[in-house]
Amino acid sequence: MKNLKWWQKTAVYQIYPKSFMDTTGKGTGDLRGITSKLDYLQKLGVGAIWLTPIYPSPMIDNGYDISDYTAIDSSYGTMADFDELIDEAKARNIKIVMDLVYNHTSDKHAWFLESKSSRDNPKADWYIWRDEKTNWRSIFGGSAWEFCPERGQYYLHTFATQQPDLNWENPEVRRALFDAANFWLKKGVGGFRVDAITYIKKPAEFKDGESDGKDGLVSVHIMTAATKGILDFLHEFKREVFDRHDIFTVAEANGVAAEDLPKWVGSDGVFDMLFEFSHVNLSLKDGEIWCRPTKWKLTELKQAIANSQTATKNNGWYPIFFENHDKPRSVNHFLPKASDPIKAAKILGTILLTMRGTPFIYEGQELGMTNVAWDSIEKYNDISSRGQYEIALNEGFSKEKALEFVHFFSRDNARTPMQWNSSENAGFTAGKPWLPIHDDYKICNAATEDADKNSVLNYFRKLNAFRANSEILLFGDYEELLRDDENIFAFARAVENKKIYVLANFTLNEVTFPTEILGQSKFILGNYTAHNKGVLKPLEVVLYKEATS
Ligand code: NOJ
Repeated sequence: MKNLKWWQKTAVYQIYPKSFMDTTGKGTGDLRGITSKLDYLQKLGVGAIWLTPIYPSPMIDNGYDISDYTAIDSSYGTMADFDELIDEAKARNIKIVMDLVYNHTSDKHAWFLESKSSRDNPKADWYIWRDEKTNWRSIFGGSAWEFCPERGQYYLHTFATQQPDLNWENPEVRRALFDAANFWLKKGVGGFRVDAITYIKKPAEFKDGESDGKDGLVSVHIMTAATKGILDFLHEFKREVFDRHDIFTVAEANGVAAEDLPKWVGSDGVFDMLFEFSHVNLSLKDGEIWCRPTKWKLTELKQAIANSQTATKNNGWYPIFFENHDKPRSVNHFLPKASDPIKAAKILGTILLTMRGTPFIYEGQELGMTNVAWDSIEKYNDISSRGQYEIALNEGFSKEKALEFVHFFSRDNARTPMQWNSSENAGFTAGKPWLPIHDDYKICNAATEDADKNSVLNYFRKLNAFRANSEILLFGDYEELLRDDENIFAFARAVENKKIYVLANFTLNEVTFPTEILGQSKFILGNYTAHNKGVLKPLEVVLYKEATS
């Protein structure tokens, strides 16, 4: 257990390149912008950067619709810029991790253009073509099938119409995908985040399902996620690409049942880690990516997290996260509405950096960035927010209510540009930013927080450095504490009798806790300047360490 791999001992930083740093004034971020911020990331203490897709793309889904797997989108720069990023990152002991989007391509990919041109071209069955459609609903809303006049057939798209699903049954398709991944390995990337992988295998028979909505459709997720036989494809993927490299793989795997985890991760599995969403999807129905905001209890959040910690205790490794480019900002999502964002960000940062696994920090989370609430759906760029808005209207909700749902769950919440300083456009661009800058940027930005020793940024730096040198936080078991408490999130990390305790008050009231649970341990860190043992002030988080350790 002590032989942890490099990626088990460091935090990973996720960058949404379009929103990170623009060096040209065009209003969107680029690779040189990322390179220019490597010192900032080194100081934060991250050992890897996961880049969401930077390949050529029509940007219908902001890069998750790829039209060439082995090139760089010109808006991000050139391959030379990418090589420079790899080298400069390496000089700072940081690896670059690529996003593989292999369930689908863009409808502008040369493979699809050829495939759609006729029923008898060499790539005719590189995608999923059928004479008749089923009643499956795509993840972004509407039918998952689109009619193609050239072939007189429908093609399947699990996501947007412009994201046709690849046919993994065809060995030539798999070969082409594996070759593309190997191209990036040759460049020295440190691993892969693998997109939407549970959808690559389709059922043998395509049948209508029982509708789960007012549109008469059924979620494609319910009909196709984790179809039997999928692991054969994935083992081949592992053999042909992942094996023999000192890299990590983390797969986005909606729909993998807890009991199947050992087949997916760990020594007998395929990936090193799986992004599992139960703790961030407490207000969603299975397979949905939007919701009417519903209340969840702290005990449910704790249970979801404890389940993942337990499931990965002996199998695989847990990628700890509260935010990514598809989720609202965690401060708004997990803490009460009137919360002080600084205290709230430190609570979630503490849990993120003290649980067992590899922490994934999403850009801006280390500053405590928060959600936006724009006053019209037109202002939203995210294809899924627009789809969600339509679904809400079709279900009979008013425009105001539909917009309220979008505010709550829009992916644009996490995609507003990174806030670097208090100058115009938060120092992100000299031009017009592609999405509006959050209006709190004068207070919440990297430069201001760098200079403030009590900032969220400096708290993340301190805790991340502490974690990197703490045997207990790196190796220790996860032990649930106060499991039934609806106010306090508490747990311990333990290596034999050496322990670190974490207690966080998720409410706006003062609460008390039984001090016996802390043994002989002593307070070491928190988000208030003073702390009284046995009491947690509103949104207070504390770390205690066993005196013997
Ligand atoms: C998951 C990605 O995280 C999301 O941003 C994207 O829209 C879908 N997969 C489709 O690729």
